[in-house]
Amino acid sequence: MGDVLPKNDIKERYQDLVAQISYHDKKYHGEDNPEISDAEYDALRRELEQIESEYPDLKSPNSPSEKVGQAASRGFQKVRHAVPMLSLSNVFSEEELDDFLSRVRRFLGLSDEDELEILAEPKIDGLSCSLRYENRKLVQAATRGDGQVGEDITENVKTISDVPHDLPDDAPDILEVRGEIYMTRSDFLALNQAQEEAGKPTFANPRNAAAGSVRQLDYKITASRPLSIFCYGVGYAYKNEDYFNKGDIIGLDEGLRSVVESLGDKQSIIINKLREFGFPVNDRSLLCETSEAIISNYKNLLAERPDLNYEIDGVVYKVNDISFQERLKSVSRAPRWATAHKFPAERAVTIINAIDIQVGRTGALTPVARLEPITVGGVVVSNATLHNADEIARKDIRVGDHVVIQRAGDVIPQVVEVLKQKRKEGAEPFVFPDKCPVCNSDVIQEEGEVARRCTGGLICEAQATERLKHFVSKGAFDIEGMGAKVIEAFYEEGLIRSPVDIFTLQERDKDSLTPIRAKDGWGEQSAKNLFEAIEKKRKISLDRVLYALGIRQVGQATAKRLAAHYGSLGNIRNSLTLHPDGDQREPCQDPEQYIPRQSSLALDPDSSLREYQDAVRELTSIEDIGPSVADDLIGFFNEYHNLEILTKLEEQLEIEDFVAVEASDSPVAGKVVVFTGTLTTMTRAEAKARAESLGAKVTGSVSAKTDYVIAGEEAGSKLKKARELGVQVLSEAEWKSLTG
Ligand code: IVH
Repeated sequence: MGDVLPKNDIKERYQDLVAQISYHDKKYHGEDNPEISDAEYDALRRELEQIESEYPDLKSPNSPSEKVGQAASRGFQKVRHAVPMLSLSNVFSEEELDDFLSRVRRFLGLSDEDELEILAEPKIDGLSCSLRYENRKLVQAATRGDGQVGEDITENVKTISDVPHDLPDDAPDILEVRGEIYMTRSDFLALNQAQEEAGKPTFANPRNAAAGSVRQLDYKITASRPLSIFCYGVGYAYKNEDYFNKGDIIGLDEGLRSVVESLGDKQSIIINKLREFGFPVNDRSLLCETSEAIISNYKNLLAERPDLNYEIDGVVYKVNDISFQERLKSVSRAPRWATAHKFPAERAVTIINAIDIQVGRTGALTPVARLEPITVGGVVVSNATLHNADEIARKDIRVGDHVVIQRAGDVIPQVVEVLKQKRKEGAEPFVFPDKCPVCNSDVIQEEGEVARRCTGGLICEAQATERLKHFVSKGAFDIEGMGAKVIEAFYEEGLIRSPVDIFTLQERDKDSLTPIRAKDGWGEQSAKNLFEAIEKKRKISLDRVLYALGIRQVGQATAKRLAAHYGSLGNIRNSLTLHPDGDQREPCQDPEQYIPRQSSLALDPDSSLREYQDAVRELTSIEDIGPSVADDLIGFFNEYHNLEILTKLEEQLEIEDFVAVEASDSPVAGKVVVFTGTLTTMTRAEAKARAESLGAKVTGSVSAKTDYVIAGEEAGSKLKKARELGVQVLSEAEWKSLTG
């Protein structure tokens, strides 16, 4: 790597990796909603670690390699771990495993002939948890959090039937046990089915389901979810409660020493003790004395993996002798005495029976392979995404082909490879349709885009239902009980064709809704519940409405920025709806008069172009909005049907204008502030937007006029200048408490 890229590029790549990893950590640990597979995540981490080892001076104090997981989130009490909860390094191949073993031997001064026992345990894919017992009673359960501070989930964990509440008399007085909470595959499938039937969101995989169930503020919800635990370690153990003062931070070394004294000097002995005390421990752990034994155990587990009723993502190797563990200690929050041997993504070979084309909300056509159903890692797979036409052509995927498919983590299965030698004679290359399979409109590919799109717009039923699903989705109107199935059924019945219909459903269908839906088991109560859920959403914030409209490239963040900038829907329409005669301020009533896109500024080219340019200029002055998003927005607000729907929606809804906190209410209103250094809890853009919404003026340089300098990590010359000028300097935390 070092010899191909100049150092500046490496620095840039490094910073990019830090940002990407932090983002994905947040998605995975904070929101239980990962966007990339474990394998992709691991690849990012490895690249980061490689750069750090080659260029130690580039290493940032914020490096994800220094953090374990995600900081504890709000809502639960914080718990400081008396002994930090560590993470694990990874190996991905036999060579890397050998490196790990040689490193351990070298560190301990052992020769190849000296005995080195390794306990190999399945790596359970769930979330780690600490269980503290005082006088043999469960008193506290906590998540790992960032390894130092986790969340108090005692009440939730008490509802897990596997977790003992009381320990036998021979258990230590003070004991902290660690383990992995998980959901079995069968429980996961049943839970998802129940969620679906109740019109609630389903979980992508058992890990997310387990994490989402544990981190419920209402422990009664946790109680209703089928959770299990496997215990794999002990943080500390004291025979006499006098040895332990509550709230003490005792550290890793002291923790290990207490464990040896109270329980034994081998990991295998400790695990057996846990079993005797009544903790569920995994019965597939194996004590290995040679690297051959380790590898054959790995292969056995890999082969067994699909048949296990719980998900494992690798094997954890631990040096069995605790006195060795004490000497090896840890680096960068991971012990030197353990590592995780990760499994490759799960793959299988099957046949493509058909290639279907799905039409999304924006008209994008996505090809989907219909597969001969096959089990991949315990899950039956019958569809795989083929992404787009280019991907099919590049891999030359044909109907009837034998293909290798991969299910990596929780992402949609993918076709990795076509087994061309198995191709039947006469298999034809796939021809991507030039007509929409749903509405038969032309399919186009816009310049610079990979996706092909249906041009049917409003007449395309597929687009219409997808748009409706988006309209009622979580970040948008979030209408309870109105899931994808309900939308599809109501669309089919003709009950809901446009978003406006949702809000007139009750008056139109007071009597007919129940009978129509009766065949799906609807009763009066179901209709009543739905109407109530809809009523609740008549009053709604502007940003949600903007997001719900499903304008291309306008996600939740952009919708918020637009709301903050324009304040009201009226302002947005005024600025973005162009007027053919230049000064007409009333929405045009003639569909023909609306100007659809920049490309057809036909009526009065000069004034329309001027208006268009003004609108673009204003839009692109907003953080993160570029010309292409601006064009999509203007396009949307100049489509006659969109405006018609908007007008009708405005009649049905009470759209709350975006209100910046009143100047007089905010302690920073009118103040001139400068942000410098690296902020840790928000991006610069967020900090600026928030400050401005509170009436502060954010500038880039420090002068005598500056009221506050907010200094993040590694602040440099601006901080120095602030001190020289006597400008008040605030830490990020102080700023946050000042601005609430
Ligand atoms: S030992 C000292 N053993 O994997 C090492 N962890 O990637 C800390 N995990 O946070 C953990 N099965 O959540 C250990 N048999 C096992 C495990 C295991 C699953 C999880 C655990 C840990 C993560 C590290």
